[in-house]
Amino acid sequence: MNLRIHSSQKQLKNKGRALKNRMQDKVVLITGAASGVGQAAAQALVDQGARVVVADIDEHNGRETVQRLGEAGLFVRLNIADEYDWEQAVAVTYAHFGHLDAVVNNAGILPTGDIEQTSLQDWRRTLSINADGTFLGCKYAIQALREKGGAIVNLASTAAVAGHPGMCAYSASKGAVAALTRNVAAHCLNHGYRIRCNTIIPGGVRTPMTAAIWSGNDDLSFADNPKSPFCEPLDIANLIVFLVSDESRYINGAEMRVDNAFLVALG
Ligand SMILES: NC(=O)c1ccc[n+]([C@@H]2O[C@H](COP(=O)([O-])OP(=O)(O)OC[C@H]3O[C@@H](n4cnc5c(N)ncnc54)[C@H](O)[C@@H]3O)[C@@H](O)[C@H]2O)c1
Repeated sequence: MNLRIHSSQKQLKNKGRALKNRMQDKVVLITGAASGVGQAAAQALVDQGARVVVADIDEHNGRETVQRLGEAGLFVRLNIADEYDWEQAVAVTYAHFGHLDAVVNNAGILPTGDIEQTSLQDWRRTLSINADGTFLGCKYAIQALREKGGAIVNLASTAAVAGHPGMCAYSASKGAVAALTRNVAAHCLNHGYRIRCNTIIPGGVRTPMTAAIWSGNDDLSFADNPKSPFCEPLDIANLIVFLVSDESRYINGAEMRVDNAFLVALG
């Protein structure tokens, strides 16, 4: 009996230790990691032992982020809508770190406007970044990961599921991200690639993207308000870490909401 307790305590201890370095030896490329969710995910992954490629069009904030990460970080200038940039980003990752284990397709833009206000130009621009960028991210991730396996994490939004009339082009682009994720997961399963592809569906997150809504409004902090429609970037980053880690090895093609029941409460 004592022996059993002793060994289960030991197991728990070892488990705790394993959880501390869940990302040991993993190299993760995160798009949009110069800000918000991507930046928080880069830090959380490095805290767990990963090395990360901070891939962003914003060179200033991207390099500053990498400075904070130290040797575990590498900045790569990447416009996710540009195929040549993807080729270069993957090549630079291999040259610097020697391998790649996961791609987090996080970069995106949030233009507002309902269907009557949205011009064809705005629509195409949004789709070209949010949808085309994720398409290219998945395509190049599969090419890089198919030999050894790995993880792809795509960032969608509750806008992909709920109406959100003021976010016409954004909603459609995130719907494309969610549908593409299912397609990629099924493709990788059929080919036996051991590449998992999952979508995160955040509600509101307090980042620069949504600052116009939450800044100056303390009521929107979840720490103070349990009904807040906004979480912190780390709340999403924690799920990114889990979906990149081997702990989620059998989770594939899933859509995981981080929205404090926003969607289910709509009824
Ligand atoms: N903030 C929210 O409330 C919220 C809610 C749901 C989903 N999301 C999604 O989460 C993801 C991260 O959003 P965030 O809130 O951290 O935004 P953010 O604006 O803080 O960061 C977005 C980052 O993406 C980069 N980026 C934009 N266009 C790019 C391009 N073409 N190529 C490369 N990088 C580009 C920006 O430079 C920036 O660093 C996005 O996909 C967003 O749609 C955010």
